[in-house]
Amino acid sequence: MTASPKEHTIKINETEPGTATLSVRTLKLSDFRNYASARLDLDARPVVLAGENGSGKTNLLEAVSLLGPGHGLRGRPYAELARKDGQGGFAIAASVRTRHGELDIGTGYTPRAGDDGTGRTVRIAGKDASAGALGDYVKQVFLIPAMDGLFTGPGSERRRFLDRLVVAIAPGLRTSLSRYERAMRQRNRLFQMREHGKSLFEGLEEQMAESGVAIAAARLDAVERLSALIDERRESEDQTPFPHAVLALHGTVEADLAERSATEAEDAFRILLEEGRERDRAASRTLEGPHRSDLLVVHGPKNAPAAICSSGEQKALLLGLVLAKAELIKTLEGIAPLVLLDEVAAHLDGVRREALFAEILRLKVQAWMTGTDKELFSPLGQSAQILDVNRGIISA
Ligand SMILES: Nc1ncnc2c1ncn2[C@@H]1O[C@H](COP(=O)(O)OP(=O)(O)O)[C@@H](O)[C@H]1O
Ligand SMILES: [Mg+2]
Repeated sequence: MTASPKEHTIKINETEPGTATLSVRTLKLSDFRNYASARLDLDARPVVLAGENGSGKTNLLEAVSLLGPGHGLRGRPYAELARKDGQGGFAIAASVRTRHGELDIGTGYTPRAGDDGTGRTVRIAGKDASAGALGDYVKQVFLIPAMDGLFTGPGSERRRFLDRLVVAIAPGLRTSLSRYERAMRQRNRLFQMREHGKSLFEGLEEQMAESGVAIAAARLDAVERLSALIDERRESEDQTPFPHAVLALHGTVEADLAERSATEAEDAFRILLEEGRERDRAASRTLEGPHRSDLLVVHGPKNAPAAICSSGEQKALLLGLVLAKAELIKTLEGIAPLVLLDEVAAHLDGVRREALFAEILRLKVQAWMTGTDKELFSPLGQSAQILDVNRGIISA
């Protein structure tokens, strides 16, 4: 790892809450994707990466996304991110301006005999940390072409889309999510092992009920806040040409929580799991719970489910939703998150493109945008840092 050896001192920024901008100031890559080595020195302004297909733009966005928690914006195994002709590992070192001052972050992967390529090392301010801990410092939202099918694809994608927001505004929820997952996996394994021990199931179902209700409550809260923000923006004078979304959260526990207290919902979910045991046993998995919840999105102006809207309408809706997420994080966390937008400009007409730029400048986010046509970004002028990417070489 190449985390800077200099001692990190946490300085509290004197800016007002809500006005700070999270920004990557230095980014160094070694053996990451098509970059043998690269270095970027930046200020807080948005970053535009322009270059031909295959030049390494999305790879750079992916590297930035790994400064936050999770598996990066493509969600690929880490072994795949190591440069093909390199040593099998990669390293990313960055200096990031956070609300608490400048922070050194390092992350990387070194293959080891017998590992499955899913773990990465993380250093925050020179100390070993978990990838999840990055979420306390680096907040981000992203939109990539692979998300074009978000409204028509499987519910799991929409759940992840929502849960990324939930975790950004309630980092403690990471624990509940992994606790729920773990207990559910163990319960499913009991079915596969033809285990009938009542107490084994009761223990796990208790954990699932507790963490499941915490997850559902945090999701409801996030959806409510996001909806309130969207409504507020609709009513304000400076409307964006991005259609507003109407959101609904569908799920057994979420619906239950709307009607009763958390304790009651916990009991109800525990009983549901107990009563569903034989049905779940037949399926060899847990059929009901927050792991099946879905975020339903309606195109507000058309009053039509997003899934039946045109692909252009879906794209504009999604972009508006991602920007609303960024604004909500900024409002609640007091710092404008990184906004990673892969290939968005090319799919917008001129009016919407300028509206996107205006929105990015209004939110004061360090947005990272990619595109093959540099000209499309010219309205940004000096408000952005425009870089050329050419076969793994970055130049201003
Ligand atoms: N692990 C890797 N090692 C070397 N090259 C890679 C690796 N993974 C991807 N690439 C290459 O990186 C190039 C740039 O990819 P990408 O960043 O997606 O391009 P774009 O600029 O179109 O977004 C592609 O040609 C791809 O084959
Ligand atoms: Mg790309």
